[in-house]
Formats: sequence, C-alpha cells, structure tokens
Amino acid sequence: MQNFTYHNPTEIIFGQGTISAIAARVPLTVPVLLLYGGGSIKRNGVYGQVKAALKDHPALHEFGGVEANPLFETCMAAVALVREKKIRFILAVGGGSVLDAAKFIAAAADHVGDPWEIPLTHGRALQSALPLGAVLTLPATGSEANGNSVISRRATREKLAFYSPLVYPVFSVLDPATTFSLPVKQVRNGIIDSFMHVMEQYLTYPAQAPLQDRFAEGVVQTLVEVAPRALAVTDDYESRATFMWSATLALNSLIGSGVPQDWSTHMIGHELTAFYGLDHAETLAVVLPGVWRHQFDKKKAKLEQYGRRVWGAESASAAIERTEEWLLSLGAPVRLSAYGIDAKEAAEKIRARFAERGTKLGEHGDITPDDVAEILLSRN
Ligand code: NZQ
Ligand code: ZN
Repeated sequence: MQNFTYHNPTEIIFGQGTISAIAARVPLTVPVLLLYGGGSIKRNGVYGQVKAALKDHPALHEFGGVEANPLFETCMAAVALVREKKIRFILAVGGGSVLDAAKFIAAAADHVGDPWEIPLTHGRALQSALPLGAVLTLPATGSEANGNSVISRRATREKLAFYSPLVYPVFSVLDPATTFSLPVKQVRNGIIDSFMHVMEQYLTYPAQAPLQDRFAEGVVQTLVEVAPRALAVTDDYESRATFMWSATLALNSLIGSGVPQDWSTHMIGHELTAFYGLDHAETLAVVLPGVWRHQFDKKKAKLEQYGRRVWGAESASAAIERTEEWLLSLGAPVRLSAYGIDAKEAAEKIRARFAERGTKLGEHGDITPDDVAEILLSRN
C-alpha cells in the first residue's frame, strides 16, 4: 500500500425528507447564493423544499441556468452577483454540474487575478474559497463529497478539472426521492460514471491493498446488481438509495486511498465532451474498453481479478468483453461511430491538444498523445 492522507470533511445527510436539514446548516448571518441548473428542481418540488427550509433567511439570492458541463462564462456571471451582493455561502441544488459550478464560483469569488488560472493550475493557484453546501439530485459524479470540479470554457472548447481541499462541500443532503424525476438517460449516465470512477482507482496493477480492492469490487457489484431496477422503476426508493450511496462512495477518496490511479479514460473523455458535446458518461463508455485493450499487458493481473470476482469471467479478455456487454445492455454505445464521430479526426484533434499540453496519462504516466490517438482510432 502506498502512503496517503485521507481527508473528507463533508457531512452527509442521507435519506427521504432530509432537505429540511439545511435550515440548521445554512448560515443565517451572511448573504447566501442558491445556485441551480436549468429548472429541473422547479418541476420536481426540490426548489420548493429548499425555499421552505430557508424561508427565514434574510438575504437569500438566486442564480439559475447552470448548464450540463458548466461553463466558465456562466460561472463568471454568478461570481459577479456574489461580489455585488457580498455573498459568503453558496448552496448548490442539482446534479454534478451545479455542484462543480458552485465550487468554481466559491473559488473564484475572492481570487485575485484571472480565475481561469484555477483550473489551469489544477487548483494549485487557490488560496481561499467560500464555504458551500449541496442538495444533490443526480447520483453520478461524487462531487457531493469530494474536492473536484470540472469547468468548460466555450470560447476555447476546453474542459479542465481542478481539485482543492478548500472546495469540499461543508454538507451534502442526499435524498434519493429527489432522483425520481430523472430521465432514464441520466440514471444510466450516473450508473456508468460511478462505475468508471471505481475503475479509474482500481483497474491498474496489484498494489497490496486488498481492502481497497474489496471496497472497489463491492461498489461495482452493487452498481451492477441495482442497475436494472434503478433504471426500470422510476420511484423505487430502495434501489435509488443504494445507487445514490454507491455513487458517493465511488469518488469520495475512500477506495482510492493508498492505491495507484489511472484517470486516462476521464481525461480523454473530457476532450470528447469539449470537442463533440457528448455527455460525460457517454464518453467514458466509448473510451474505457480502448484503454484496457491498449494497456492490456500492464493491466492484465487486475483485469483477471476484476473479471473473476465481479463477472465470474475466466480471463482478462473476457472481463473486457463482459464490461462492454454490460455497457451496451444499459443502452450506452461503446463506439464513436454511434455518435457520428470520425475516429480519425477525433484522434488527431485530441492527440494535438495533449501534445501541446505535454500530457501523459495512466497509472504509470506513460500513455503518450500518440497512444491516445491509437486508443481513439480503435474505438471507431
Ligand atoms: O439543469 P437541470 O434542469 O437541473 O437538469 C439536469 C441536467 O439537464 C438534469 N437533472 C439533474 N437532476 C435531476 C435532473 N432532471 C430531473 N430530475 C432530477 N432530479 O440532469 C441533467 C444532467 O445534469 P448534470 O449535473 O450535468 O449531470 P452530472 O451529475 O452527470 O454531472 C456531469 C458533470 O460533472 C462532471 C462532468 O464532467 C460533467 O461536467 N464531473 C464531475 C466530477 C467531480 N466533481 O468529481 C467527476 C466526474 O468524473 C465528472 O467529470
Ligand atoms: Zn466521471
């Protein structure tokens, strides 16, 4: 096991009817920003519950319209409001995009200099951030209990992630009933994203971390088991609760402590979203099998273990095949052609971008821009 620090300051308030708990946690003494997305919270009653809980707040401001794959440009409009109204606490209500936007806004609010530096330096430029809390309505990203945020910039078609211990939510409310209104596609996306988060931290090489392995396999087995019911029955509380808690544990730094991590599927996937607008999870389903086949020898031992323990598969190749079949069974294409994307063009664009940035990926840091192009070409 590698040395590690484990830090997770987020209080999780989990269960049906728990949104009212924000009343005791959102500070009454400072102006607060209620941040949300395109309006789903107004249609499913979450907005009403939040407003009822905060009815006595003397200075509650609102900013709606955060889009999926939140834009720097939109966030900066919210930063202007934060500065104007002297807001000192942000309450994010929505999916990962709203939470990520809240983190960026919290980070940019008092930042001296160009806020784009924050993602450009992966968060290292950050000195301070406003505190934030969250009401999560879409299990997927783990953003409710981590210090990550991913922000896109329309003008340059960039999508960059940053991490800072300063932007963990102070608290996150997870009421599985808020997910009943999710379109099936978003449930599918959330299951896939959570699965991929486990794989980025698990499917590397044996690292004498048997407990982390068992945790990771447990999260994945649970996701695989619960997926059919979570997808088929919109208002099944128990399956949505299981899914929601699995998504949080997939990326709250527990399973990744002390083990090598990959993240190449995510890094390549972010570029596919930036250039072609695919949903985050859609990119991952396309890329992952390509990364595994390209890195087959280096990942073979872990692929065998994963295949055996999760799928009862007898070989590393069978583990990859079973995973592809599972993704397809959820309704997620695993090929670029399914989206009308020319693999050659995508490979060249992304190769050029990684070459310009000097990016190398994977748990060994040895996946070069040319390798990335090969991986993408194999996903035609
Ligand atoms: O905008 P509204 O109207 O709220 O609608 C959203 C949006 O259209 C809708 N939605 C959310 N909750 C709903 C709902 N519709 C009905 N009922 C509900 N309860 O779902 C759509 C997608 O929402 P979004 O927040 O974009 O999805 P997700 O949670 O998958 O977040 C994706 C973003 O997170 C980033 C991704 O790159 C992407 O930008 N990630 C963040 C990570 C992190 N912070 O740790 C890690 C991930 O790997 C990922 O990169
Ligand atoms: Zn993800």
